[in-house]
Amino acid sequence: MNQKYKLASFFLYKIMTPPLLLRVLQGELVDRPPVWLMRQAGRYLPEYQVLKQKYDFFTRVQTPALACAITMQPIKIIHPDAAIIFSDILVVPQAMGMVVEMHEGKGPLLPNPITSVKDINQLNTTEASIKLSYVYEALTLTRKELDKNLTLIGFAGAPWTVFCYMIEGKGSKTFDRAKSFCYQERDRAHQLLQKITQVTIEYLTAQIKAGADCVQLFDSWAGLLDKKDFLEFSLPYMNQIVTAIKPFAPIILFAKGVIHSLSELCDTKATALGIDWTITPQQARNITRHNIILQGNYDPAKLFQDQKNIQQDIKTMIQEFGKDRYIANLGHGLLPQTPVDNVRCFVDTVKNFGSMTK
Ligand code: CP3
Repeated sequence: MNQKYKLASFFLYKIMTPPLLLRVLQGELVDRPPVWLMRQAGRYLPEYQVLKQKYDFFTRVQTPALACAITMQPIKIIHPDAAIIFSDILVVPQAMGMVVEMHEGKGPLLPNPITSVKDINQLNTTEASIKLSYVYEALTLTRKELDKNLTLIGFAGAPWTVFCYMIEGKGSKTFDRAKSFCYQERDRAHQLLQKITQVTIEYLTAQIKAGADCVQLFDSWAGLLDKKDFLEFSLPYMNQIVTAIKPFAPIILFAKGVIHSLSELCDTKATALGIDWTITPQQARNITRHNIILQGNYDPAKLFQDQKNIQQDIKTMIQEFGKDRYIANLGHGLLPQTPVDNVRCFVDTVKNFGSMTK
């Protein structure tokens, strides 16, 4: 009887134990850090290129079975601890009524960018999150297909980064138009950022309901702003999102290029912060007062070097961050030509960390 009870509770524990990434996000101490890679779905995978030949970008994004299949590709090929749903940050402006095109080799194009208050007023905020039901279906499908030991990550762009594309109309190194808009039309800029924030909160909440175990906000263009402007045009909106989402699921903030505001990012009470490689793990731990889970920060360009060097770098990186309260990842997305074997080497090195140190 006793034995039976023990066995039953063991299996119950097995079934009920959340996957590694979620356990870390819940504050548990673990044997090794979990590992996943930003932009792990797509780009560098030959298997993705096959689907790319057959279907255009938004067909891939808007067909739940295709988005699920693409999300699962890196799971089967490089075996990370988490899957990130295949989608794009620009589905939000699209659902708000803007035309968004994706051009091979050129990136996104929004042919009718926001220029006036009329454009802002015309944006659809009430139905936008409903129009994104294909993302929720893809999440539900993927959660069913994904092993219970793996975490499913939902995501959205941070309002500032989405705003950049909505005003600029295309990718840019400097987003001059988006920045000028902030300085010339401050109130309008805030009005638009607030609209994006409202839709993003509804969107992420629905992603969690549909099966996302946790979510990440990508503020890829945060680094275009100086500290004062980051604290005005980006952080308050991410803060609103964190406050709204955290009761339902863990939330990771990845704001690139803003080590000047790492302490303020920590104050948002996000579950974890993603950092890039312009700061050392020790500096990041000190600034965040050893008080938050950190994710990052390997330079994706370094995945082009010899595997021996990658292995050495990754061991050092984990030792410097510490194996606890840490999620091994890159400091930005995987680059298109990265050798798949080197990506696998990154993942394997993290997974073997515990056994290497024993
Ligand atoms: O992480 C993942 O693997 C999930 C999929 C994902 C995509 N975009 C698919 C995609 C994610 C998380 C994104 C986020 C995204 N999209 C960001 C933030 C992260 C970052 O890298 O900074 C940004 C700024 C965008 C906007 C965007 N989408 C750009 C600038 C481009 C063109 C250049 C490029 O390859 O990133 C895209 C297109 C895009 N989104 C592709 C993929 C796989 C490549 C185009 C294609 O495969 O046809």
